[in-house]
Amino acid sequence: MENVQKESVPILEMLGITIRFPGVLANDNVDLELFPGEVLALLGENGAGKSTLMNVLAGLYRADSGRILIKGKEVEINSPKDAMALGIGMVHQNFKLVETMTVAENVILGLDSEDFILDLKKVGNRIREISDHYNLKVDPGAMIWQMSVGEQQRVEILKLIYRGAEVLILDEPTAVLTPQEAKDLNRIVKQMTSEGKSAIFITHKMDEVMEFSDWVRVLQKGRLVSVVKTKDTSPKDLSRMMVGREVLFRIEKEPSVPGEVVLKVENVVAMNDKGLKALKGISFSIRKGEILGIAGVAGNGQRELTEVITGLHKVVSGKIIIENTDMTNKSPLEIIKSGVSHIPSDRVAMGIVGDMSVANNLAMKEYRKEPLTKYGILHPKRIFTMAKKMITAFMIATPSPLTNVKFLSGGNIQKTILAREIGACSSLLVAAYPARGLDVGATESVRNEMIAERDNGRAVLLVSEDLDELMSVSDRIAVMNGGHIMGIVDADKSDIAGLGMMMAGVPLEELK
Ligand SMILES: Nc1ncnc2c1ncn2[C@@H]1O[C@H](COP(=O)(O)OP(=O)(O)OP(=O)(O)O)[C@@H](O)[C@H]1O
Ligand SMILES: [Mg+2]
Repeated sequence: MENVQKESVPILEMLGITIRFPGVLANDNVDLELFPGEVLALLGENGAGKSTLMNVLAGLYRADSGRILIKGKEVEINSPKDAMALGIGMVHQNFKLVETMTVAENVILGLDSEDFILDLKKVGNRIREISDHYNLKVDPGAMIWQMSVGEQQRVEILKLIYRGAEVLILDEPTAVLTPQEAKDLNRIVKQMTSEGKSAIFITHKMDEVMEFSDWVRVLQKGRLVSVVKTKDTSPKDLSRMMVGREVLFRIEKEPSVPGEVVLKVENVVAMNDKGLKALKGISFSIRKGEILGIAGVAGNGQRELTEVITGLHKVVSGKIIIENTDMTNKSPLEIIKSGVSHIPSDRVAMGIVGDMSVANNLAMKEYRKEPLTKYGILHPKRIFTMAKKMITAFMIATPSPLTNVKFLSGGNIQKTILAREIGACSSLLVAAYPARGLDVGATESVRNEMIAERDNGRAVLLVSEDLDELMSVSDRIAVMNGGHIMGIVDADKSDIAGLGMMMAGVPLEELK
C-alpha cells in the first residue's frame, strides 16, 4: 500500500506488525502511520484485529514480528509503562477505574512514587487545570462510582493527558455514550489534535468517521486492506471495504400481527441504586408478535425498567404481569423459567462468564432442559453440537466452541450473548442496546433477528438510543423522560422531531 508523502516526520509508525494467537492470525503484516495533529480512524468487522493492534502500542501485547517507530526512531514497547513514557495512552474498550476511589486517586494510581510526591492537593490542582483547559467538567474529589459512563471516560482521558500522552488511542469510545456525550468527546479530541496531539480511534459508526477523522485504515481478517483520506470516501464505500460486500442498511418487515398480551407493566414505581425515584408510575403492555421500542436519553429510567422486568431490581409499587402470571419482584431465575430473555446493557458484568468456554456460555440458560440434560445428566457433547450451530448461525468468530469467552473480540462477546438470549427466548425478549459494539453487517443481522423473533410470536422490548433503529425495527415506540413515559406512538407514524420533543420532556398530548 502506498503511503502519501508528507512534509513532517510521522509521530508514530508501525511496520509489518504480525500477531498470532492460538488458532488465529490476529494481525498479518499491518502498517500504520500517524502524523502530529491527525485523527486516524481504524475500522474493521468484529474480530478484524483492531484492538489487538492497538494493544501492541499500549504495551499489553507483543508483536511476533514488525517494528514500531516514534518520531522516526525505532522503539520497544514491553509494558504499559513503556508506552506511557513514549507518550502513548489508550482508553480500552472495557475500561475500568477503581470505583471506590476518587478521580485524583485514580489518576495517580500506578505511577512510580519517585515520579511524584504524593500530594493530592497538587494533583487536584493539575487535574482542575486540565479539566478547565479541555472543558472536561471533572471534579478531582468526586467518587468514580457516582459517575456516569461518559464522565468516567473523561476521567480516563484526563488521566492520560496528566501522564503526558501525545498519541491518544480510543477503542470504541462512543459505543457506550449517549449521542450528546459522544459529541462532547469528539469536541475534546478535536481540541487536542488542534494543539498538536494525535489520536487513533476505533468505531463502528460511519457518521463519526466522516465527521472526525482525517484518515481511515481498514482491517479485514487481520490484514490492512485500505488506506484512504476521509474526504475521499463515504460511509457506503467504507462499509464495503470492511465487509467485502454491499451493506444495504435495509430492514425487511411485514406489518405486525399482534396476539394476546405477553407483558403488562402496571403503574410501576422503582428506585435507582442511589435511592432516588427512577420509575415514577410506568404502564404499558406488549403483545405476542409485537416490538415495543423504548426511546430516551440514557439515564431516564430505561435501565431500571429492563431490570424490574427481568427480576434484577425490585419495584416499590405496581405490577409486572408476564403471560397472565403476576411476576412482580420474582427472582431472575423464576423469570427466566417463564421464557424471558435479557440482553443487558452492562454486558461484561452481567452477560457472560469470561473464564468459561463459548459453548458453556451459550448453554448457560438451556442446560437445565432437554436435550442438554436428560434424567438430570448433562450431555457435554450435545452442548458442543448446539454451540457449533449457534456459532455458525450468529457468525461468532472463535477458534473453537471450547475457547474461553474472554479471548474473543468485543463484538464477538456481544454476539455470544445475543445468540444465547435470542436462542432461549420463548415469550419475551428484553433487549438493551443490542447492536452496541457490532459491526455494520452484524448490526443489520441482529435487527433482522429481532424481527424474526417477533414473527415467531415473541414479544420484544427494545431499548435503544438510535432513533433510526427504533423507527425501523419497532412497531410502537414509547418515549421515556425522567422516569415517566411521555407517550407511545406507532413507529410508522413517528418522526424524529416528535420523538426528540418527547425525549426532552414534552408529553405527547402537548404535541398535538
Ligand atoms: N488474548 C487473546 N487470546 C487469544 N485470542 C485473542 C486474544 N485477543 C484477541 N484474540 C483474537 O484475535 C482476533 C482479533 O481480535 P480483536 O479484539 O483485535 O478484534 P477487534 O477488531 O477489536 O473486534 P471488535 O470490533 O469485535 O472489538 C479475534 O479472533 C480474537 O478472538
Ligand atoms: Mg475490539
